[in-house]
Amino acid sequence: MPAAKKLIEVALPLEAINAASAREKSIRHGHPSTLHLWWSRKPLATTRAVIFASLVDDPDDPNANPDFVEACKKLNYGATSEEIAALKEHDRKNLERRAKGQSPIALKRNIPQNARDGVDSPRMRLFDFIERLVTWEATTDDAIMEQARELIRIATNGNPPPLLDPFAGGGSIPLEAQRLGLEAHASDLNPVAVMINKAMIEIPPRFAGMPRPAAEPTTASSRASCTSSRSTAPARFAKPARRPTSITARMTLLIQC
Ligand SMILES: C[S@@+](CC[C@H](N)C(=O)[O-])C[C@H]1O[C@@H](n2cnc3c(N)ncnc32)[C@H](O)[C@@H]1O
Repeated sequence: MPAAKKLIEVALPLEAINAASAREKSIRHGHPSTLHLWWSRKPLATTRAVIFASLVDDPDDPNANPDFVEACKKLNYGATSEEIAALKEHDRKNLERRAKGQSPIALKRNIPQNARDGVDSPRMRLFDFIERLVTWEATTDDAIMEQARELIRIATNGNPPPLLDPFAGGGSIPLEAQRLGLEAHASDLNPVAVMINKAMIEIPPRFAGMPRPAAEPTTASSRASCTSSRSTAPARFAKPARRPTSITARMTLLIQC
């Protein structure tokens, strides 16, 4: 039997991935760019979508892993009632803002679009899921992230491959691989890139699940904030109260953590 195509070989919900990637540029809290600006860092949303779609079959492929197809059939189709309510509330607030002469605010989440085309297939359900997975908010949504890891486990028969990025730069690829439950390895010629990757994917998991100190010293607000309980999950970074002046100062604070 020929191997099924991976989703990335067939199609992706590009509009939602592009929107989430563009939105990341204005995120000022918790994004790796707030730790250190790396000019060629790939958007996390794009990276997350590409890694995920490289690991799972196209569920509409006749040779797709049957367990994975069944799992896709159980995914939500289109927007949930909660998402529709959030959309209506958002529209209502923007009408109020317009009436006051204020500019509208952007919707912070992707509401899946595919249901509106009236096509209900495992691939369309998976697209809806990916539209949710690529949002910035998904990075702190344990339910979505765990569902993504579970879909990868099913698609890889419980044996997700490790990921190696030998040119890791700002670390988007190993960071997202780790978030998706893969064993991540990174290297780079540039020692600053190595330091960034150590700070993002090697050090934070050591502190995952540990209680935060009751009273933190003044400089502690510049440290990595390890919020996830999963040892493999990456940390998000707390906004510094007083910004250290250099990359070295920031990294020193982080490594002291
Ligand atoms: C385009 S950047 C990678 C960007 C990365 N994907 C990200 O999201 O930030 C390419 C990286 O490859 C590294 N590089 C170039 N030649 C290399 C080599 N021979 N061995 C290891 N790393 C190398 C550079 O230092 C640079 O950090």
